[in-house]
Amino acid sequence: MNTPEKYNEDHTDLENQIKYTEKVREILAAKKRINKACIITFGCQQNEADSERLMGQAISMGYIKTDIPDEADLIIYNTCAVREHAELRTLSRTGALKKLKEKNPNLVIGLWGCMVTQNHRMNDIKMKYPYVDFVAGTNMLHRLPEILCDVMVSGRRRYYVNEEPAVTVENVPVCRNSNLKAYVSVMYGCNNFCTYCVVPHVRGRERSRQKEHILDEVRGLIKNGCKEITLLGQNVNSYDPGNGYRFPDLINEICALDGDFTLRFMTSHPKDASDELLNAISHNPKVERHFHLPMQSGSTEILRRMNRKYTAEQYLDLARRIKSAVPDIALTTDIIVGFPGETEEDFEKTLDIVRELRFDSIFAFIYSPRVGTHAAQMEDPVTYEQKTARMARLLEMQTQISAEINASFIGKTVTALCDTREKMQNGLFAARTSSGKLVFFESELCGDELYGKTIEIKISRSTAAQIYGTKV
Ligand code: 5AD
Ligand code: SF4
Repeated sequence: MNTPEKYNEDHTDLENQIKYTEKVREILAAKKRINKACIITFGCQQNEADSERLMGQAISMGYIKTDIPDEADLIIYNTCAVREHAELRTLSRTGALKKLKEKNPNLVIGLWGCMVTQNHRMNDIKMKYPYVDFVAGTNMLHRLPEILCDVMVSGRRRYYVNEEPAVTVENVPVCRNSNLKAYVSVMYGCNNFCTYCVVPHVRGRERSRQKEHILDEVRGLIKNGCKEITLLGQNVNSYDPGNGYRFPDLINEICALDGDFTLRFMTSHPKDASDELLNAISHNPKVERHFHLPMQSGSTEILRRMNRKYTAEQYLDLARRIKSAVPDIALTTDIIVGFPGETEEDFEKTLDIVRELRFDSIFAFIYSPRVGTHAAQMEDPVTYEQKTARMARLLEMQTQISAEINASFIGKTVTALCDTREKMQNGLFAARTSSGKLVFFESELCGDELYGKTIEIKISRSTAAQIYGTKV
C-alpha cells in the first residue's frame, strides 16, 4: 500500500511539517531518480503503529515504500529498549548498514524511538556509528519531514532527542501494513513506573487521544474494509481523555458502530481492570475472546518490589472473574523470570498460578536490567544459570498446558479470520481465531478467495503452538 491515508482535524505543528514535506519533495525530485524508503521495526505493536506513521510521512515526501534495505535511499530503524537483547540486535544490524552507505552515497540512515531516546544509547550512536545521519526520540513522531529536511539541507548529522513534553499526535499521514487488521493507539506513555521497566522513561507520561479522533479513525478503517481493530496503549484501562469518559465507554461506542469488524485491545494492567471492562467485553460480541493480562510474577513480595500495585491473590481473583464473566475467553500473560532477588520459593509461586490458571499462552522473559530504572539498583544474587533453568521449567510447564488446551479443539469446528493470501511453508493456509489462536488449514479455494474471510475450520490435529484442520 503506497497511498498514505490522512485522518483527524486536530494537528500538532502540522503547517510547519507540510512546508518541510514540500521542501524534501523538491530535493528528492531534483535527484531525478526513484527514491525508496525502508522502515524496520523492532519491538512492540506501538512501535509497529509508529512505523506506519513514519512511512506515511515518507510517502508524503515522495518516497516509495520498500521492504528491501539494499534498494533504499532512506532507512529508519524504529528501535526498542525493553530488554537488552532487543538493543544488541538493533546495534548489530546498525553496524551492517555501513556497507550500504558505502554503496549508495544518497542513502540517509536514521535511528528512531525508544532505544535512542536514552542518552547513553544516543551517545553510543554519536561515537561509534558515524554513518547514522540522524537520531530521533519517541516524541518526534510527527516531525520526520523537519528532521529529514534539516539533514539534507545541512548535510550534517542531527540529534532530535530532547526532553520536550510528549504530545498526542493527530493528523499524521499513515501507511498501514495491512488493510485487514489495524492498530489504533488510544493513549501513549505510561505513569506506572514498574521498577524493571524502561517504558515510562522513554515514552513519557500518559496522555489519551480524544475519543472523537479515535472514533473517526475507526470509522475510516471500517469503511475501508478493515476486519480487525486493535486498540493500543501501555495501559488501556487508564485511558482518560477527561469528562469521566473511560475505556469501557470507548469499547461500547466503537462496538455500536455498524460494520463487519472485531475489536481487540492491549495491554491491560491488572490493577485497573474494572467490572465495567468485563461487562463491555461480555456484552459486545464484536470484542474478541482474548484477554492479555500481564502477571509478571506469582509472588506478592516480588510484585511489591516490581511496584505492580496488586498481590498474587488479587491477580488470581481478577483472572477467575474474567473467566467466569466470559467463559470462552483465552487468557494470556507476560512473566518475568529472575527479577532481582527472586527466590526459588517466589518462582514456585509463579508456577503455582500458571498451573492453576492454565493460560492459553505466556510470553516469558528473563529479567534484563535497564539503565535508569529502580530495579537495576537492586541486589541480585540469583545467577544467570539459575534464571535460565527456571525459564526452562516455566516453558516446559506451559508447553504441556498449551498442548492440552489445543488438543481439546480436536473434533471441534472453530471460526477464524484468514489473514494471508499465500500458503505457508507447510503448504497450508493460516487464520486466527477470535481468541488469537493460530490455525493452519487446507482448502480447495485459492488464497484470493479466502483472504479477509471469516471461515469455519474443523480441527483434526494440534501441537502446543497451533491447531490444524480443514475448511468446512
Ligand atoms: N526485563 C525483562 N522483561 C521485561 N519486560 C518489561 N521490562 C522488562 C525487563 N527489564 C516485559 C514485561 C512486559 C513485557 C512487554 O516485557 O513482562 O509486560
Ligand atoms: Fe512498563 Fe509497567 Fe508501564 Fe507496562 S505498566 S509499560 S510494564 S511501567
